[in-house]
Amino acid sequence: MKTPIDFNIVRKNIKESGLEKVGMASIRELNRLANNIVEDTGDQFIRMEMGVPGFNPPVIAVESEIEALKKGVGSKYPPFDGIPQLKSEISRFIKKFMNIDVDKVSCFPTVGSMQGCYMAMMVTSRRFKGKHKVLFIDPGFPVNKKQAKAIGLQYDQFDVYNFRGNKLEEKLESYLSTGEFSSIMYSNPNNPSWICFNDKELEIIGKLATKYDVVVLEDLAYFGMDFRKDYSVPGQEPYVPSVANYTENYILLISSSKSFSMAGQRIGMTAISDHLFNSEGDNLKPYFDSNKFGYAYIFGAMYALSSGVSHTNQYGLHGLLKATNDGKYNFLEVVREYGERAKVMKKIFIDSGFEIVYDKDIDEPIADGFYFTISYPGFTGTELVEELMYYGISAISLSSTGSDRHEGLRACVSFTPKELFPVLEERLRQFKIDHSDGTKVINL
Ligand SMILES: Cc1ncc(COP(=O)(O)O)c(C=O)c1O
Repeated sequence: MKTPIDFNIVRKNIKESGLEKVGMASIRELNRLANNIVEDTGDQFIRMEMGVPGFNPPVIAVESEIEALKKGVGSKYPPFDGIPQLKSEISRFIKKFMNIDVDKVSCFPTVGSMQGCYMAMMVTSRRFKGKHKVLFIDPGFPVNKKQAKAIGLQYDQFDVYNFRGNKLEEKLESYLSTGEFSSIMYSNPNNPSWICFNDKELEIIGKLATKYDVVVLEDLAYFGMDFRKDYSVPGQEPYVPSVANYTENYILLISSSKSFSMAGQRIGMTAISDHLFNSEGDNLKPYFDSNKFGYAYIFGAMYALSSGVSHTNQYGLHGLLKATNDGKYNFLEVVREYGERAKVMKKIFIDSGFEIVYDKDIDEPIADGFYFTISYPGFTGTELVEELMYYGISAISLSSTGSDRHEGLRACVSFTPKELFPVLEERLRQFKIDHSDGTKVINL
């Protein structure tokens, strides 16, 4: 059969990859397979499997870091909980863009927000005896579950697709009322579905977190990137929505990777509510030498994990945050492009017979952002991943994300600049023609 990417070469590479099922491959495995096909064919691929920023890091961050490096801070250990001026700017950032007050003491950098997530699970799950499980509101970022497994934590999860709005309350309560949960985790905007919880939903989560004394681990990896609203002006409404408006039991995990295009620097931010930071548990001491939550976090978990974050990197983030908080740098201006791309790409897919899987925020169409989800009638997600390889398009199946929508794929827009839209359009036009009679290339 004639497919946009040479059928025989794709088939050969799939065979050589040794993957039992291409559609079940991890992001990195799929990435390698696509690279090999590109190398063998010389054809361009539409790369939608990796959630990696597509822009350069901000100059102000780069220059601030270089300056620090030249000053020689690289020879000195940084404080575990961050250099004081960075802690202040993180606290200011949260005030300016979320209108939430968190003391600088409770704000600190982490090695990517990934480390922040890890620490948050580590410490919250040991806060109280008997409360040891994490509840993931899925779909979600698979690595968080890897983290839970790595430290032997039990967890439960559910796909929120059928539990939006008021329905969320009963669903959450069915888990939390067991008394076994230490924390609830979700990302907002959501990786992979780009669902954004509304204030009513955040209020439900917050209210129940207080009622059952569980900590909400709010992963803001895509901070401010719901482009339906302009969150870019410091100190002005609208503010980035957060559960922090509805409970004192929260830990905010803010990534620099996507909103600031600094993924390679591995620096993120954690902000713990002052109430929680200054609270005590009854089960922290055996693990972290103190029952004081904040102390256990910094001198127990952070010390043990990496003893802080690379010193020069902290100066880079400090320079960027200061400019952002002072209104001198608009961090969302560049990344807004992702939303513009998603809008066009979704239309191209829909026009070719695809459907958007997570299509709504309750009664509003889902926002255009860094990811969107797609399916094609008659295909499971894993089949579709493999089928699209023959059309030079790589994306991951939703199966690994805790989604119940096994027909779906996650598509990331960051590596598809506008110039590639005609290629995508042409390949999907071909896909539609080839599949009009129910043919599946993978079965040939
Ligand atoms: C939901 C979510 N959380 C955390 C991360 C990791 O962020 P960082 O690069 O800051 O470690 C990502 C990155 O893709 C993500 O999608």
